[in-house]
Order: sequence, then C-alpha cells, then structure tokens
Amino acid sequence: MALSLSAVLALILASAYAAHVENAVLKQAKTPLRTIKTVPKWLQPFQQHPQHLRPFRETYEEPVGRPVHPAQPSQSFEQVLSPFGQSLQLLPQADRRPVRDFRLNAIPRDVKLTNHQDRVYYGLVTIGTPEQRFNVTFDTGSSIMWVPSIHCPAQYITCHHFKRYNNVSSSTYEENGKVFAVLYEVGQVAGYWSQDHVRVAGVTVKSQAFGEAIIEPDLFRGVLNDGILGLGFRNIAEDEEPTVFDNMISQGLLPAPVFSFYLNRYNSSDPDSVLTLGGTNPEYYTGDFTFANLTAPDRWQFKINKIQLSNGAGVLNRWGSQAAVDSGTSLIVGPIGEVDRLHKKLGGFPLPGSPRMYAIECSKVDSLPDVEFFVNGQKLTLSSKDYLMEVPGDKRLLCFSSIVGKEWTKGETPGWIFGMAFMRAYYTQFDRGNRRIGFAKAKR
Ligand SMILES: *[C@@H]1O[C@H](CO)[C@@H](O)[C@H](O)[C@H]1NC(C)=O
Ligand SMILES: *[C@@H]1O[C@H](CO)[C@@H](O)[C@H](O)[C@H]1NC(C)=O
Ligand SMILES: *[C@@H]1O[C@H](CO)[C@@H](O)[C@H](O)[C@H]1NC(C)=O
Ligand SMILES: *[C@@H]1O[C@H](CO)[C@@H](O)[C@H](O)[C@H]1NC(C)=O
Repeated sequence: MALSLSAVLALILASAYAAHVENAVLKQAKTPLRTIKTVPKWLQPFQQHPQHLRPFRETYEEPVGRPVHPAQPSQSFEQVLSPFGQSLQLLPQADRRPVRDFRLNAIPRDVKLTNHQDRVYYGLVTIGTPEQRFNVTFDTGSSIMWVPSIHCPAQYITCHHFKRYNNVSSSTYEENGKVFAVLYEVGQVAGYWSQDHVRVAGVTVKSQAFGEAIIEPDLFRGVLNDGILGLGFRNIAEDEEPTVFDNMISQGLLPAPVFSFYLNRYNSSDPDSVLTLGGTNPEYYTGDFTFANLTAPDRWQFKINKIQLSNGAGVLNRWGSQAAVDSGTSLIVGPIGEVDRLHKKLGGFPLPGSPRMYAIECSKVDSLPDVEFFVNGQKLTLSSKDYLMEVPGDKRLLCFSSIVGKEWTKGETPGWIFGMAFMRAYYTQFDRGNRRIGFAKAKR
C-alpha cells in the first residue's frame, strides 16, 4: 500500500495518539476483567477480624473539606473530577424530594448519561440519607456496585480524587462486614461491602449492598466516574450480594425486568444518552428489535451466526462466534485473526507500536463496505461511520477503527465484545425476564 509522505507523518502522530487512546480506553471505563475468587492476602486479616478496619478509620480518615493532596490534573484529561477534599457533596435542600413508593404504579425510569469523548458514559446515583451524590458508569460487563470510601487510607491518593461515601453521616447505613475485591487490567479495587438506600432516577432501593472501596489502582486517576454500577448477573459462587437491578425487581420498583441503553455520539446533535430502567424508550430507536437469546447463564452473551462485509466484499467468520454486549468497554473487540482480515479487506493497517489497533485513510470512508453481523436470522449492520473514529487534529488523513483485536487465550469466550461503539449504532435492550438481548437501530 502506498502512502504519501504526509500520510506517513500523520501515521507517526497517530501512533502516539493510539497509545494514549489505548491507555484511556483501559483507564476511562474502569471495566473489570473479573472478580477475584479468593480474597487477596493483605485483605484477609480484615475479613477474619472486621474490627481491624477500625485502625484504618481512626488513623487515616481525613476531615471533610480539607484538601488531602494538591491538584495535579494530568495533561491528557481536561477535567479533574472533583475539587479535592470535597469528598462529600450533599444535595441542596431544595433538591431533596420526598421518598416516594413506586411499588403500586411502577413506571420505566430514564437515567440521563454524560458522554465523555465517546469513551465513557456516566450518570448520577445517590447513596444514603441525606443523599450523597456519585457519578457512576452503568456496566453490563460486571455485577458489583462500588464507590470510593471515606475510609480509604491517606496513602492511597487515587481514592481522594473522587467523591467518597461517608457511612457516619447516613442515617440509613447498615453494616455488612464482608470484603470485596475486583481485578482490573490496571490493578485492583478492594474494600468491604456496606448497605444503604441507593437512589437512581428517582427510584429508591432499600438496603442495597455496595462496595466501599478503600484501595484503587493509581491508573484510575484522571478517570471521570467515581465508581461503577454493575448491571451484569450476580455471581453467587463468589459470594456477591444482590445487584441494584436484582433489588429493583425484588422490591417491585420496576414494571418489567428490562433495561435499555441509548448512547449518543460525542459532539453531535444527537439527543442525550439515556439508560431506561424497567423498559424501552421508543423515542430513541426506529424499526423492530432483533432478539438473541442468552447463551450463558450469568452474562449478557449471545450467538453471532456469521460475519461478513456488504457487497460481497468478503466473509470474516462463517462458523459463528459468541459475543457479549458490554456498556463498560469503549470499543468493539474481536479475535485478532478476524479483525486483522477485516482491516486488510478494508485497506487499513495496524498501527506501529499498537498492533491491535488499525487506521484507515479517512478519504476512503464513503466507499468502505458495511460490516454485517448475522444474529437470529437478521442482520446487524455497522457502516464505516459507525466503525471509524476521527483523530482529533487530523481530520483529513487517518481515521482509527473502533474495532480492535484481542488474542484470546484458548477456549476463552466470548470471541467478540460489543462495547459503546456498537451500542451507539444500536439501541440495546437487556431483557432479564426472557433472557434475551434486543437490538434496534438507534434514532439520530
Ligand atoms: C457528574 O457529572 C456531571 C457531568 O460532568 C457534573 O456536572 C456533575 O457535577 C457530576 N456530579 C457529581 C456528583 O460529581
Ligand atoms: C462506619 O464504618 C466503619 C467501618 O466499617 C464502622 O466501624 C462504623 O461503625 C460505621 N459507622 C457507623 C455510624 O455505623
Ligand atoms: C467538538 O466540537 C467543538 C466545537 O464545535 C470543537 O471545538 C472540538 O474540537 C470538537 N471536539 C472533538 C473531539 O471533535
Ligand atoms: C429463544 O428462547 C425462547 C424461550 O426459551 C424460545 O421459545 C425460542 O425458540 C428461542 N429462540 C431461538 C432463536 O433459539
């Protein structure tokens, strides 16, 4: 493939940028790889003797409102989450609405989500009485809800960059005592479970168990969400508590055991991103849903029958593959072999230094074929505008592909992960009652 000199220069710039994107993709979403089965050694004393947590509190608790560390916003992120020391922000008096009981006339509830550069979407939840506010990522790829704790020790600076939950100031706090730990690609988050009222979009879940994180990886610094709200399936074998969605169902707060995502494109005239709890919102999609039954007991996973390019431009996978829909992953991830074949056919090339990522000359965008995923006899189609992203400051030359490769270890499923880049094209409903996932074209 022949590239002009300016394209080669752009490629070098793009490679540096790709490393940044890759990093950011890992960091921004705070998406767990897996929960830890065995409690790590250093946490065991706390598990066996929960009273050992007390020294942490007495020694390290920082007075609310006092800066614990000078602000050092990293250059790669425009925003720092919260002014340090503002660890606890209560709703102004005027915003406090009375707790209402929706049990009798439960209706679907919309949670407005903020889109940060197409890499992470987050929305507001409150915990406790009076309410303490947190921005969390709603993650279908994990099942634990956690937020940083006021009890995180001073030496774990990262934690102090975020809003932190303070059990002492909540009248509805209940002690739980068990520990939790979640492993991320960049390190682990760990702490202990606590219980309190959790409110999302005006729905109050009582006695919701959530993780109070006392340890967070340093690389979470600069991330925009305080914590995670897992919308995956509770892992009973690993002693996880019922999820927020489990409790919404069991406490009769929703009209149906369904939730749906509409994710907008950053910097577009699209409507705001929305998570609908308890149903779907027809304002955000067109046409009918294509449904796929779940193929795993504890995961939002389904079967793809075939993957090909439109206009007879090539078949990438004729045997089928498992796929998971993950609202906590920024991009679309596929097996490296298939992803490599795809980009060869599209005239793209791997980025030097980041061979899992690919670039394509932007001038080709209009002539590129669609990628077609066959699901349950229907076709889910991504156009080049869906699977390419623009490189800021380099609009004319190179575009990154949102489809990245991964070398799965043998036998690992799923083969594909449909992250935010896929969900922007397809409004997605997660139907627990019928154990299926539905896709409809997102409205723009
Ligand atoms: C949550 O994020 C929004 C949008 O960035 C911001 O305006 C708001 O202040 C944040 N709320 C909290 C509690 O951090
Ligand atoms: C808050 O949490 C700490 C640590 O788990 C616990 O020791 C303490 O009793 C709690 N405070 C209240 C008021 O329950
Ligand atoms: C978003 O739009 C603003 C104003 O139109 C522009 O200045 C900025 O560069 C855009 N950002 C991206 C990432 O495209
Ligand atoms: C999906 O599951 C439902 C209920 O178990 C079943 O009736 C239906 O045939 C399944 N559909 C497919 C395509 O397997």
